Amino acid sequence: MITSISTARPALQLCAASLLLLATAVPGRALDEASQVALGKTEYIAHCAACHGAGGKGDGPVAEVLAKKPLDLTRISARYSGQFPRDAVQQVIDGRNMINPHGDRGMPVWGNRYFQSAMSLAEGVPHDVDVQALAFGRVAALVTYLEAIQE
Ligand code: HEC
Repeated sequence: MITSISTARPALQLCAASLLLLATAVPGRALDEASQVALGKTEYIAHCAACHGAGGKGDGPVAEVLAKKPLDLTRISARYSGQFPRDAVQQVIDGRNMINPHGDRGMPVWGNRYFQSAMSLAEGVPHDVDVQALAFGRVAALVTYLEAIQE
């Protein structure tokens, strides 16, 4: 099923642009770091800033009404004794492997959304598309961007 483009058009256009950028990257070769940071930033502003704030400080407009406050994303390394925990951050953003016995987590499960969106994008493409890799690429770009904004 192809999801309607008419809903949330600006956000979807951004997603489609980022996905196409990833899809044109040589398979098996990651985007260089500067491109990942640029892509991650676009993705961040579109999907994360509302809660975490444009600068990552946890002061986005939506933060006020959340029961769980978003964390300051510029201080992740500081919270992990100076080491940026790439894998853990990747897991938190993807969210599909997170078990949450104590009720709702404050973070949306981005892995599912990126997977769905990669599926609908791949629908119209006349050759094989590695849907998991597309979804993973978006999360990886976000992780690289977050690593770049650590204080
Ligand atoms: C609906 C609000 C909301 C949105 C949108 C959101 N987050 Fe979060 N995020 C939270 C909250 C609340 C937490 C606090 C932890 C929790 O859920 O228990 C959090 C935690 C995190 C953490 C863990 C930080 C740490 O030090 O443990 C990371 C990383 C993160 N978010 C990244 C992102 C990224 C990247 C996006 C965009 C793709 C995003 N968030 C979008 C609300 C949000």
